[in-house]
Amino acid sequence: MQIDLSLIGMEKGKQYETIITTHNSEGVQNAAPIGVICSGPDKVVCRIFKGSHTLDNICSQREFVVNITHNSELFYKSTLGNLPEDQFISDDSIKGIQAYFKCEVTSLKQAVKRSDPIKKKDEAIVIKADVVELNINSDVKAFNRGFGHVIESLSNYSRFDLVDDAKKQSYIESFREAKRVVRKIGYREDIKAMKAIEEKIKEKGYDV
Ligand SMILES: Cc1cc2nc3c(=O)[nH]c(=O)nc-3n(C[C@H](O)[C@H](O)[C@H](O)COP(=O)(O)O)c2cc1C
Repeated sequence: MQIDLSLIGMEKGKQYETIITTHNSEGVQNAAPIGVICSGPDKVVCRIFKGSHTLDNICSQREFVVNITHNSELFYKSTLGNLPEDQFISDDSIKGIQAYFKCEVTSLKQAVKRSDPIKKKDEAIVIKADVVELNINSDVKAFNRGFGHVIESLSNYSRFDLVDDAKKQSYIESFREAKRVVRKIGYREDIKAMKAIEEKIKEKGYDV
């Protein structure tokens, strides 16, 4: 199949929530959710914190698989533990997954990024990789978190006048965090939506 990440809705410069699957030198397979940035039709970048199986496996094997899904069970099971052995296929992809692509590492560098709340900046590695195979089993678009933050912010905004001051303050804190994330990873229309909500909150006399 042609290697073009736009076929699964991935745009250059945008980040998507995926499940990366890897194996170690003994062939033990592992799955973990990881944010993957599309850096070209056949290129990706991700930043992974030290101490994870995923980073160890990518560093030692110099390859990984990116699984595209909206299945919350796969996300929570691979965050809170590992997926069961029989849920992996021999090429490391997840059984029954809608789409996946195989990556080969082209560079591994210490991260220096400072625009997020993670304190230990030197505890992560930035991985650049080429996509060497793309498989689409059914229609799916990679998941971008921006839209969810817009809906959550709108939902909170619609209740703003109905709640007490402490809850208002917690909505404002949530909004600030949502704004930070959407600015970083969201689509233009999501950023526009967050600006519109911000204006409305400011009109009510609150600083966001
Ligand atoms: C949606 C989502 C996205 C994540 N993105 C990243 C990421 O980009 N980099 C990272 O180091 N950890 C990320 N994590 C956290 C890892 O998935 C988590 O630390 C996991 O337990 C690592 O598992 P492992 O030790 O099996 O590799 C993310 C978690 C979630 C739920």
